[in-house]
Amino acid sequence: DASDIEKGTYPHFMLKEIDEQPFVMRNIINQYQNENGDLKLDDDIRAAMKEADRVYIIACGTSYHAGLVGKQLIENIANIPVEAHIASEFVYNMPLLSEKPLFIFISQSGETADSRAVLVEVKRLGHKALTITNVPGSTLSREANYTLNLYAGPEIAVASTKAYTAQIAVLAILAVDSARAKGIELDFNPLQELAIVANAMEVLCDQKEEMEKIAREFLAVTRNAFFIGRAADFYVCLEAALKLKEISYIQAEGFAGGELKHGTIALIEDGTPVIALATQEHVNLSIRGNVKEVAARGAYTCVISMDGLQEEGDRVVLPKIHPYLTPLVSVLPMQLISYYAALHRDCDVDKPRNLAKSVTVE
Ligand code: G6P
Repeated sequence: DASDIEKGTYPHFMLKEIDEQPFVMRNIINQYQNENGDLKLDDDIRAAMKEADRVYIIACGTSYHAGLVGKQLIENIANIPVEAHIASEFVYNMPLLSEKPLFIFISQSGETADSRAVLVEVKRLGHKALTITNVPGSTLSREANYTLNLYAGPEIAVASTKAYTAQIAVLAILAVDSARAKGIELDFNPLQELAIVANAMEVLCDQKEEMEKIAREFLAVTRNAFFIGRAADFYVCLEAALKLKEISYIQAEGFAGGELKHGTIALIEDGTPVIALATQEHVNLSIRGNVKEVAARGAYTCVISMDGLQEEGDRVVLPKIHPYLTPLVSVLPMQLISYYAALHRDCDVDKPRNLAKSVTVE
């Protein structure tokens, strides 16, 4: 059928879409660059970001996880306070809003009903909204004041991969543009750094055999799994756990390294797989400590670190990239490990049970 043609030589859309991520990064660089090689962004969006005293990011699922990374990027780079919220909660449990809020809706499909419900309410209150989406002309794009496109190309697999990294890349560009509008001096060129990310992604896409081995060793038979990390790595762990749950049906949890001991460590038994991310210099020692804590209780540990922070025994060492952008590369082995775990467990990778690509009911 037609979908086989689109998959080309790939067995699944998910694997194809994972592999497309370096191209998507380069596409985003081209789309958000002017003829002088500088950032190119809508003047109205720049003005709205400059005007905002607080940004509210609203999203669901994987897009929410990209929003958590986006919060950190906008706060660190553009010095604007940001809250990231799950759409279905926000609509019924709205926090006290700031005086000049700007709402950012992140949605691959642009059709998610939970997010749209918030947009309708935000508009009723008279606030401005920006939608970041992969589908120009989608409902959330049409109904918001402004749109930024992801340029990731159609994402077919239910489990989102390339849209997540595209969302983070576009949020980084938005953060830098907003910083410049506010006269903040930066020694961070997002277009250059994203080009480095694209190359790093390619290196990781070439390490599929190792990811398959990790999946086989750690996840082929287990009934649960934990992902631990601190700072930005924690956000990626949430996404890693979601990816694994969605397509392999393994009960997985993403956890903040330091919070583990306050309860969840009770679940660690002999052989429990714990995959740790160690890409953040300022928390490298503490996450290493958390790995030792779980290993001492019998966990079977796998550390994915970053060049410069690695220790002997780490299973994957990611190429070094700018600290702001580590989630863009650390998520990639997680996507591949989930993919291979699902294959080993004979799951329907592209169409997991009970899930839909776009959820248009509240
Ligand atoms: C569904 C999909 C998820 C996705 C979420 C939000 O639940 O299965 O993969 O992250 O919706 O979708 P959106 O299109 O708004 O990003």
